[in-house]
Amino acid sequence: SKTPVRVAVTGAAGQIGYALLFRIASGEMLGKDQPVILQLLEIPDEKAQKALAGVMMELEDCAFPLLAGMEAHADAMTAFKDTDYALLVGARPRGPGMERADLLAANAQIFTAQGKALNAVASRNVKVLVVGNPANTNAYIAMKSAPDLPAKNFTAMLRLDHNRAASQIAIKTGKPVSAIRKLTVWGNHSPTMYADYRFATIDGASVQAMINDQDWNANVFLPTVGKRGAAIIDARGLSSAASAANAAIDHMRDWALGTNGEWVTMGVPSNGEYGIPQDIVFGFPVTCEGGEYRIVEGLEIDAFSQTCIDKTLAELQGEQDGVRHLL
Ligand code: NAI
Repeated sequence: SKTPVRVAVTGAAGQIGYALLFRIASGEMLGKDQPVILQLLEIPDEKAQKALAGVMMELEDCAFPLLAGMEAHADAMTAFKDTDYALLVGARPRGPGMERADLLAANAQIFTAQGKALNAVASRNVKVLVVGNPANTNAYIAMKSAPDLPAKNFTAMLRLDHNRAASQIAIKTGKPVSAIRKLTVWGNHSPTMYADYRFATIDGASVQAMINDQDWNANVFLPTVGKRGAAIIDARGLSSAASAANAAIDHMRDWALGTNGEWVTMGVPSNGEYGIPQDIVFGFPVTCEGGEYRIVEGLEIDAFSQTCIDKTLAELQGEQDGVRHLL
């Protein structure tokens, strides 16, 4: 059987953690033949560590055949030791009266420290997925704090937006979600993201032609996908957790095991594609093969799309300008 790989998860006692760890341990992320060792990080706070111990008791009680070991940590420098995969879920939520700048600063501190720890102790091939918000900017901060690791190893989660968009298209067209190809979401994981079905197909037919309704695109589809997180908080009284964990599994599985030529969306550092400045962590269409992602290039950007892309890019540049002095 295969050698176990090390999977670090931060915020492991949080609500996404609770929806995520059991699926990683059951083999849904890296394959049903791949044993995993979970390296779980929580804040040193006694309550958080105790809650983490409880989650680990439940993981034990599942008797997962692929769970080759697990560890609880309160320090990123030990949690990330030799880790092959790092899912950075824990982040500072916006508290009452907290300004956006305070939120960015609090998270900059967390992701600077975690980037440095990855730089110091993780596997040189570590695949990093940032889920904690603001995800793109947190990934950028971690990447900039880890100069000895390849920048391409740092990614942010746009997959939930991608999956949300796919489901809305499936509902609108009456076709199965699994039949949708070549969908993508550009930009920031925020309401400014631009979900783009201009290239999408179902059984070889154009989704754009099937829907043929720019008013629906601009005034129903994009706001529905962009504001879905808020709609879930409003309905559930809690933010999306199971769907976020599911998207994290999809992102890592596709990156590690490949997409067989199909497009998925990942937030990855730009190399200048589509005019996005170098190193901005931006949602792009990608294909994955052999453990590497590749941005789909050469797509035509029409005027409406360019306006949407410019808007989400401007927001990301604003976030990055807000943290530059902290790096
Ligand atoms: P939660 O509050 O239930 O759990 C977060 C956990 O992280 C807590 O247990 C907390 O103690 C821990 N934590 C905080 N700082 C930490 C640090 N420095 N090191 C280790 N652990 C730390 O929150 P939930 O619902 O699990 O969400 C986590 C994050 O994911 C939030 O930032 C949320 O906004 C984000 N999110 C991102 C999505 C995306 O699509 N990118 C979708 C949904 C949520």
